[in-house]
Amino acid sequence: MKLSYSHSRGITEIVVGENLDVDRYFDKYVVLSEEGLYYSNKPILLLKGGEDLKNLKNLLIIYKFFKKYKIDRSSWVLAVGGGALLDISVFAAGTYMRGVNLALMPTTLLAMVDAAIGGKGAVDWGRIKNLIGVFYQPKLVFCDLKWINTLPHRVYKSAFAELVKYGVVLDSDFFAWLESNVDKLLSRDRGALMEAIYRGAGIKAKIVELDEFDEKGIRHVLNFGHTIGHAVERASGLLHGEAVSIGIVLESKFAKELGYLSDEEFLRIRNLLLRMDLPVDMPEIDPAIVANLIEYDKKRRGEYVLMPLPTGLGKWTLEKVRIDLLKRVLKHVLH
Ligand SMILES: NC(=O)c1ccc[n+]([C@@H]2O[C@H](COP(=O)([O-])OP(=O)(O)OC[C@H]3O[C@@H](n4cnc5c(N)ncnc54)[C@H](O)[C@@H]3O)[C@@H](O)[C@H]2O)c1
Ligand SMILES: [Zn+2]
Repeated sequence: MKLSYSHSRGITEIVVGENLDVDRYFDKYVVLSEEGLYYSNKPILLLKGGEDLKNLKNLLIIYKFFKKYKIDRSSWVLAVGGGALLDISVFAAGTYMRGVNLALMPTTLLAMVDAAIGGKGAVDWGRIKNLIGVFYQPKLVFCDLKWINTLPHRVYKSAFAELVKYGVVLDSDFFAWLESNVDKLLSRDRGALMEAIYRGAGIKAKIVELDEFDEKGIRHVLNFGHTIGHAVERASGLLHGEAVSIGIVLESKFAKELGYLSDEEFLRIRNLLLRMDLPVDMPEIDPAIVANLIEYDKKRRGEYVLMPLPTGLGKWTLEKVRIDLLKRVLKHVLH
C-alpha cells in the first residue's frame, strides 16, 4: 500500500507493507541504524536507540560517518529505528551539505504513524527536548510491519494514543473503526495493523501537506492531548504515548466543560483508551508540578497557551487558553 504527500521539496512517498525490499528504490546508500536491528552490506553506523541518542555529540558522530563515506548531495541515507533515531537522522541529513537524500524506516508503531511523517528533525539540548531542529522532508518512508514483532507490549500499545488523537480531532470514521478493532490491534493482527498504519500516517500526512512549516495554525491540531500530556510525561516518567493518553482524557474533559463535547462523546474517548489498556487517570503526582510544567509549553504565547480542543468527534478548534485558568482547572480536575 502506498501513500504520498507533497511539500516544498517535492513529494514524500510512504510505503506500508511487510518485508519490504529497499534495494528496489535505490542501490547506493549508507545506513544509520539502532544497534541490533538492521543488517546490511552497505556502510552502516550503529547507534544506541532511545531519547538519549538525540544530542549534539551523536550528531557529530553522524557527520563524521557521512564525511568518511564521501556522502554528497546525490547520496542516499537510510535511517532505521524508533522516533528518537529518526529525529536525529532527519536533523543530520537535512543539515549535512544543506540536505542529502533521505529515506526513513520507522521501527516502532509510534514512529510509523507519527514521528516518521512530516519532516521535523531535532536534537535535545541540555534538558530541553527538540530545542535545535529543522524541517527536512524525507523522500521515502518505509513502514514495515516486520518490526512490530519485537516491540515490547507496553511500547507497542503506547502508540495507540496517537491513533486515538487522530480519530478524536480529525476523523470520526477512524475513531469508530478504532472502537471496532481494539481487540485485533491489541493482538497485533496484521490486517488491522496495516489499516491503522495506513490511515494514521495518511491523516498526519494530510495535515503536514496543509501546514508544512507549522505556521498556519493547522499543524497545531497534532498537539491535541500533548499540552497536558508533555507535562505529565516529564513529571511522571510514563512513556510518551501513555502520558498522551492521560492528556487526551483531561483535555477532552476540559472541552466538555467548555461545552464543546457531549458527555457521551467524552465517555466514548475515555472508554476507547481504557479498552486499549492505556492509563486515563493522573498518576500520583502533585498537580501543581504538572500545572507549572505547562508554562514551558512550546505553544505558549505570553499569558496564553494555544490548545487544540475537540468540538465533537472529528472536529477541532484552536483555543487560546489563559495559563492561569488552565492551571486552576487542572488543579480542580486533578483533585
Ligand atoms: N518528528 C516528529 O514529528 C515526532 C513525532 C512524534 C515523536 N517524535 C519523537 O520520537 C521519539 C519517540 O519515538 P518512539 O516512541 O519510537 O521511541 P524511541 O525511539 O525512544 O524507541 C523506544 C524504544 O524502542 C526500541 N526499539 C525501536 N524499535 C524497536 C523494535 N523494532 N523492536 C524492539 N525495540 C525497538 C528503541 O531502542 C527504544 O529503546 C521522541 O524523541 C519524540 O520526540 C517525533
Ligand atoms: Zn505524540
